[in-house]
Parts: sequence; structure tokens; C-alpha cells
Amino acid sequence: MEITVKSARRYVDEIPAPLTVAGYWGGELTEEAKKLDTKSGGQLSRVLDELKYKGEFGETLLLPLGEQFVLLFGLGRKRGVSLETVRRAGAKLVHEITRLGFKEAVTETFLAEKFGKKQASYALAEGALLGAYEFKKYKSDPEIKKLRLWLARSSGPAVDRAEIVAEAVNYARDLVNEPPNVLTPAELGERAKELAREAGLEVEVWDERQIQQAGMGAFYGVAQGSVNPPRFIQLTYRPQAKPSRVVALVGKGMTFDTGGYSLKPSESMLTMKCDMAGAAAVLGTMRAIARLQPDCEVRAYVAAAENMISGTAYRVSDVLKSLSGKTVEVLNTDAEGRLTLADAITYADREGAESIIELSTLTGACVIALGDKVAGMFSTDTRLGREVQEAAERAGEKVWPMPLEEEYREMIVSNTADLKNVHGRSRHGGAIVAGLFLAEFTEKPLVHLDIAGPAYSERPHPLGPAGGVGFGVRTLVELLSPSPLNEE
Ligand code: BES
Ligand code: ZN
Ligand code: ZN
Repeated sequence: MEITVKSARRYVDEIPAPLTVAGYWGGELTEEAKKLDTKSGGQLSRVLDELKYKGEFGETLLLPLGEQFVLLFGLGRKRGVSLETVRRAGAKLVHEITRLGFKEAVTETFLAEKFGKKQASYALAEGALLGAYEFKKYKSDPEIKKLRLWLARSSGPAVDRAEIVAEAVNYARDLVNEPPNVLTPAELGERAKELAREAGLEVEVWDERQIQQAGMGAFYGVAQGSVNPPRFIQLTYRPQAKPSRVVALVGKGMTFDTGGYSLKPSESMLTMKCDMAGAAAVLGTMRAIARLQPDCEVRAYVAAAENMISGTAYRVSDVLKSLSGKTVEVLNTDAEGRLTLADAITYADREGAESIIELSTLTGACVIALGDKVAGMFSTDTRLGREVQEAAERAGEKVWPMPLEEEYREMIVSNTADLKNVHGRSRHGGAIVAGLFLAEFTEKPLVHLDIAGPAYSERPHPLGPAGGVGFGVRTLVELLSPSPLNEE
């Protein structure tokens, strides 16, 4: 749907709109709703009492009130509510309002009394903007509903920030949702250029010849099987003054992963257009960063390629020479991400990044370990790891620390080359082994986020429809440009 979220200073009952939304929790009206109730001569509370509404999360009740309507919205039990409740309420609410046919509504800023006006405004606006997301580009006759939503007694700056962040998340979702025949590596390069032009960022996109000449043999080896040539994408945000620090973001950019000659079963291939979700998160983040203008320098790197089968594709047993100089024996062509990332990480390191944060849909093993809501976090530096985890917590994304167990390192030592890209027939600890492989390519503080689980949702989820989730953008933005809302 096309949604605009507007911040207003006035109380919910002072803003004229055909629909007014008020909350209740644990069977009781919120403070704002009570004011509305008094104005209506106790009508709202009477209905709640008589119908024995408990206020399950997302439960709604539409009531006429004079010329207008009131929508009572259940926020769930009082115990256990969090800012995530407010965010999810925002997402759910926009669907309820449009389902009822309204194009404009005013809502109270739920739980501002509990979490503070700024935090509550931010969460509600972010939830509404993320919840309203749809991907209808390829529908011949899409129905696109419109909604203008006023947040009463809300914080303007908080709503502005929510708009910037949600727009970046939705941009990342769009990239993931694009079909792979459209979003080839070259097209991803074009999108990066377009983004740089719009946002005022520096950009450079290398073609296959430049990639080969630079010595990115691991990356090129993966890419060589496709008629769609690879691209190496670099974007830079520079602050006006001397940067407080220089951070590199690296995103896995496989526009499609068939597995190569270690072919995936067709079931597992169904979601493999999402194998560039790391790249999407990184590009989305750059978009928000360009608007928020933090004082650190941020450099984004994406090695974009397609993992295909053909007469020119790489084989099992091939030895590739990475940019770092280390040689890698390919024992599984489906473990391609780490090969492309190895060269991107080496490059980021050599270009002078002080720390590297890398995001990739890297292993099915990580999904087995943590399920599809939680990303695995591997770090070679405790401080940076903690920083990322805390940013994720504040941003409302779930990441969980995993060990880079040194004892397993011997499993990626090859008999023929320096390294091998998989640890043999055993599948034990697959996510850790992949992390250890990446850690071979830099001595700088590195955080690797394995987002194979949360990057893509096969079903609608509380903050959006099935498809790309845009996972990682909120965490990275919060890390690089911490929200002033938390200082309240
Ligand atoms: N892109 C996949 C990982 C993946 C799995 C992403 C599920 C999203 C959802 C990756 O390239 C891959 O195929 N990894 C292999 C590694 C194995 C061969 C060591 C895997 O996880 O099976
Ligand atoms: Zn793969
Ligand atoms: Zn992959």
C-alpha cells in the first residue's frame, strides 16, 4: 500500500479524521483511550466491559462515535509488552484500517506512557511503514491501497528517522524480491550506481575483466560458469569532517545460487534468489547512512555473481587463487559464498577499513542451529561483536553469538592447496567452519552475520509479507548512526 505517516502534536481526539484508533490492553483502555472514553460519555469502556474483550494482541473492535468511527485495538496482556509490541501493532494496524476501507486515520501513539514518546513514536511509525510494504511490480493489475496515518502526540524527529530506516529496509526487500532473471550481477551494479547518484555516494563498479585483473581468483572462479558476468561493487560514504572511524560492510551478492555442479535439490533452490540478501542489506544501509550523515566513514563492498552450471563453470577439485594469495581447493561448488566473500574481505582490508562487518546467507547449518528468525553472529573481536549485538537489540533484530572454534580450523586445511572450501563429508558445525574460512582473509576485527535464516520469509511475518525481510539494515544503521532516541 502507499502509506504516509504523519506526526502530530495534538491529542488523538483533537485531530479530525474519519477513523480514530485507540488501544486497550489486559481488558483496560490505555490512558489516551480513557480520555476519548470520557468524551464519549463512557461508551468505549461500556462496550469493552459488556463484550468481555480481553485485548488479545491484534484484536479489534469498530464502533461508531458521532459522525466518525473508533477502532479499538488490542495490545495484548500488560505483562511482557515491549517496543516490539508497538512495532507489530503498527504493522497490523495499517492492514486493519485499509481492510475496513479507510484512507485516513489518526491513532494514539501506543504505550508512550511506558516507553517514552520518542521510542514509542519510532516503533509505531517503523512498524506501520514496514507492515505496509508490498511487492506488486510484476502484477499486471495490482490493487494499491492508500493510507494517511496520523500519530497523535508523537515525536516528529522519531517519525522522520523511522521513515529513513523503513525506506532503506523496504529498498533491501525490493532487491531481494526481484526475480533473478532481472536482477543479474550487472543489474545489481546498475542499481548501486543509481543509488549512489540519488544519495550522493561515491561508487565504482568493476566488470569481469577488472575483477580478473585485480587477482580476485576465488570470486572469479565462482562467477565463470554464468553467461551473466560478475560485478564488483564499491560504495563509499564520507562524512564532512575527519571520520571518527572507517568501517567496511561486505554483503554476499549471489544473484542466484543453483549450487553449481554440487547441484542443489530443486526444493532447496526455491528461495535461492535471496542469496544476495547480504548485498541488499548493505546497499539499503548505505541509503539510510547517506541521509543520516553520521561521523564515521562507511565503505560497502559486494562481489556479485551467479552460481551456475555450464561448460565454463568451476568444478569440484578445482584450485582457485584468492586475492590474498591463499589457494583454495573447491570440494563443493555450493559453498560458493565464502569464496566470493574471501576476495571481498581481503579487498576491504587492503583498502584500509579498520573493522569489517559482513552479512551473508551463508549456510543452511546456521538455519538448523538458530531457526529462521535469528542470525548467527561470529566475531574475531569481542568489542566489535558486542557492539553489533547491542545495536541489533536496540534495533529489534535478533542475532545470537556463535563461536569461531579454533579447534575446528584444521578441518579447512587442504592436502592440495592452502585451504579447502568445505570440511569434508561431515556436516557438523557447518556454520562455524564457514565463519572460520572467512576469518582467514583478514586480521582486522571482523563480524560475520550468517543471515541464511532471517533474510527471507516463506510466509508473511509480523512486519511484512512473504519474501525478502530486509534483515540487517536496522542493525547496521543503528550501529553506524546510533539513534538519539535511546538517550531519552
Ligand atoms: N546460499 C546457500 C546457503 C543458504 C541456505 C542460504 C538456506 C539461505 C537458505 C549457500 O551457498 C550454501 O549452499 N551453503 C551450503 C554449504 C555446504 C555445501 C557446506 C549449505 O548450507 O548446504
Ligand atoms: Zn551455495
Ligand atoms: Zn549461496
